[in-house]
Amino acid sequence: MSDAVLSQFTQEIRKETKSVGKKMKVGIIGTGWIAEAHIESYKTMPDVEVIAAADLIPGKAEAFMRRYGVEGVRFYPDHLAMLEAEPTLDAVSVCTYNRTHAVCTIDALNRGINVLLEKPMCVTTEEAVDICRAEKKSGKLLSIGFQPRFDVNMQMIKRIVESGELGEVYYIQTGGGRRRGIPNSTFIEQKTAGIGALGDIGCYSLDMVLNAVGYPKPLTVSGYISAFFGANPLYNNPADAVRFNVDDFAAAFVRLEGGIILDFRIAWAMHVDSPGDTILFGTKAALRIPATDCWNGSVGGAMTLYRDVAGERTETSIPILENDPGKGGLFDQKIRSFLDAIAQGKPAPVPSSQILYNQAIIDGILKSSRAGKEIEIVIPEI
Ligand SMILES: NC(=O)c1ccc[n+]([C@@H]2O[C@H](COP(=O)([O-])OP(=O)(O)OC[C@H]3O[C@@H](n4cnc5c(N)ncnc54)[C@H](O)[C@@H]3O)[C@@H](O)[C@H]2O)c1
Repeated sequence: MSDAVLSQFTQEIRKETKSVGKKMKVGIIGTGWIAEAHIESYKTMPDVEVIAAADLIPGKAEAFMRRYGVEGVRFYPDHLAMLEAEPTLDAVSVCTYNRTHAVCTIDALNRGINVLLEKPMCVTTEEAVDICRAEKKSGKLLSIGFQPRFDVNMQMIKRIVESGELGEVYYIQTGGGRRRGIPNSTFIEQKTAGIGALGDIGCYSLDMVLNAVGYPKPLTVSGYISAFFGANPLYNNPADAVRFNVDDFAAAFVRLEGGIILDFRIAWAMHVDSPGDTILFGTKAALRIPATDCWNGSVGGAMTLYRDVAGERTETSIPILENDPGKGGLFDQKIRSFLDAIAQGKPAPVPSSQILYNQAIIDGILKSSRAGKEIEIVIPEI
């Protein structure tokens, strides 16, 4: 799976010495759909050797590596067998479904292996806290797989906020989704995904805006989830509808530290084309970011900055910027930046300390929805 395909839809600084002058030894845990994007990137990197792969489904990892023409890989029936048999691994890509993100990541960190963990970080806040604690104890590097961080337009949003052009950001409306776009496979069941649209695409919208405003801590949330489409054979393939038991729509009102309000909604299916653009309301200006189906790559079009100039209300269009092709695709940059951070002793490109807040909002929405009222978001010390 290439970037082109994908676009359709302070922790301590450490220095690795293990691999200096040698190829980095990488393992892949979970050889499903997203692992394709990982292997495609690793294959282009001369300083990387993929030495091991694990999948719960017998024969799947072997067939996967055969398909990609990667030789010399050792295969294992689960992540633990692989981690125990491969003490020389420098890093693993955790490409499993959400339910096993936490156990695979913690088991790898506990064995001194650096981890690139696919998004969303996990399912619950408790798991996210356990992951962060394992990372801290291990002294290893953990980065979470949000490739949109490498998109120049996403970076532009953060640059605009940091320039002070908006003044104080006090309210953010964000979200996204599609009229019909319910995935299938392991995305739609509690036992594998644990969260639906909220975890799959909601985490991207949250990361876009929270990263832009410096990842303030979430304080309270009033959340709502529903599933009027996924389990209904009128709107979903009947074979998938009977399995479907996660959310396909979520909405929330979140209070963030610093007095910022986050108004959020996300949908895999609805009777409208979009739940609206993302807008950052500031005391000096506002920024409108056109919606996309899924914020997993870039923004939906030219952004607009609204502000008063000499007493006149003005609108400035901020054109779409082109990513530098010399840097490779967003996915390649996500993987390269992770490996470079390990080799050069730099901080994680997408640190768990930030994504912990992303996960706490997601989990808070689920818990608030179940409770039927606003709840406090409690995040223990790491
Ligand atoms: N960054 C992106 O753009 C992007 C895109 C798609 C999916 N994802 C994320 O990637 C993750 C995987 O999605 P997918 O579509 O590849 O799922 P998938 O179901 O196709 O593949 C997951 C694989 O992990 C294996 N697995 C589960 N637990 C395991 C364990 N303990 N040890 C070894 N193997 C194990 C399963 O058998 C399965 O083959 C999800 O969390 C998803 O949100 C990210």
